[in-house]
Amino acid sequence: MTDDNSADGFSRRALIGAAAMGTFIAATATAQEKTKRPEKIAIIGTGNVGSNLGKVWAAIGHTVVYGSRNPESDKVKELVKETSNGATAVSQAEAAKGIEIVLLAAPSQAALEVVAALGDVSGKILIDAMNVMSFKDGKLVEPDDPLGLAARIQAAAPNAYVVKAFNATNALVMSGPQKITGGPVTIPIAGGSPEARTRVSALTTAIGFDVLDMGGTEALKLVEHLGRIYVAYSFTHRPQRLEFNFRTWSA
Ligand SMILES: NC(=O)c1ccc[n+]([C@@H]2O[C@H](COP(=O)([O-])OP(=O)(O)OC[C@H]3O[C@@H](n4cnc5c(N)ncnc54)[C@H](OP(=O)(O)O)[C@@H]3O)[C@@H](O)[C@H]2O)c1
Repeated sequence: MTDDNSADGFSRRALIGAAAMGTFIAATATAQEKTKRPEKIAIIGTGNVGSNLGKVWAAIGHTVVYGSRNPESDKVKELVKETSNGATAVSQAEAAKGIEIVLLAAPSQAALEVVAALGDVSGKILIDAMNVMSFKDGKLVEPDDPLGLAARIQAAAPNAYVVKAFNATNALVMSGPQKITGGPVTIPIAGGSPEARTRVSALTTAIGFDVLDMGGTEALKLVEHLGRIYVAYSFTHRPQRLEFNFRTWSA
């Protein structure tokens, strides 16, 4: 990952170290260091997902900038009031300026348009929480898309670091996964940059989730499949909902 937005010079030191010690090891150390300090997070979309994650991240010390089509609306003003730690709301196009971590929480149909409107997203982590969903005869329809949404976003923004996450849990659970009984709720994630996955994992575990790191870009679509399992079950078993509680073991 590039670290051009670093405020404290740490990234520059890490890059020098990377040259000496090998890029992968140094890049991982950089990500781990970054997880120890408060992040600035732009949240695009102020609906169920954006509002719940915005409030919990702010409550643990991160700074949230909401990107909304109507930042001056009463609804968004109320959300800003409910979000601690100096949260603000601006237009979607403005929200990601100078911010490394961007949560995409808009309708999937608008995803590519939303990403294009953010401008230059080089070096930014784009957390894609979106699911492509359409229903026919009461059943979820498999999207006719061999690539998948996250991979499409990555192709549209090749210099950003797309991480699929939060698409396979309910927005209400995001505000307090601890309240779901039967073990921690697992968030499967995937993305081409290990450093980006480290930072997203830290943001995820910090609010009470477990993370299942499925791997690189090849796993983006797998995580989208998991999202469809979660949505399909929840849709056909209402009011029951599904949450994942994965565990690993060694043979
Ligand atoms: N709801 C869940 O439990 C859940 C869980 C996991 C993943 N997801 C996925 O996460 C995404 C967001 O879900 P959600 O439930 O938060 O949806 P939502 O409540 O409808 O919120 C989406 C937000 O995106 C913005 N938006 C709406 N239409 C837009 C457009 N055409 N272009 C740009 N922005 C637009 C709006 O915010 P502004 O009015 O402020 O612009 C809106 O509040 C979806 O892709 C969904 O599949 C949902």
